[in-house]
Amino acid sequence: MDIHFKRIHHIGIAVADLESGAAIWGPSGLGLAEEGREDVIQAQTRVAMYPVGDTRIELLEAMGDNTPVARFLQKRGPGIHHICFEVEDIETECQRLRGLGMRLLSEEPQPGAHGSRVMFVHPKDTGGVLVELNEFASHEHT
Ligand code: CO
Repeated sequence: MDIHFKRIHHIGIAVADLESGAAIWGPSGLGLAEEGREDVIQAQTRVAMYPVGDTRIELLEAMGDNTPVARFLQKRGPGIHHICFEVEDIETECQRLRGLGMRLLSEEPQPGAHGSRVMFVHPKDTGGVLVELNEFASHEHT
């Protein structure tokens, strides 16, 4: 059987703001260490990463009112927003999932954090779970 996904790279969690998220997930809360923050302009999202073994918790703060994370928070409140799988070749995986009739949220992979390339699968085609595929630049294993 082919292995399509290499690992869960991170789990994205929508928070009202990174400070309140840090209070829950950080050293004074559940006890994870924050690795860094980054503005992902393309997604209008401010992210903070908390490594856990081979994966991460990714906290997501909306960069404005009418943005994807803000709309998620309005509809569902804070909580798990997406699961991200690392893939070797994002074009091949996009083609495979399209072949299964799944809708992808953009035509081409989009720029993500740390020079990666990202695609999202429509949650209506995955039982309500937003799935992110992430291909990392070679020589960088974040
Ligand atoms: Co993500």
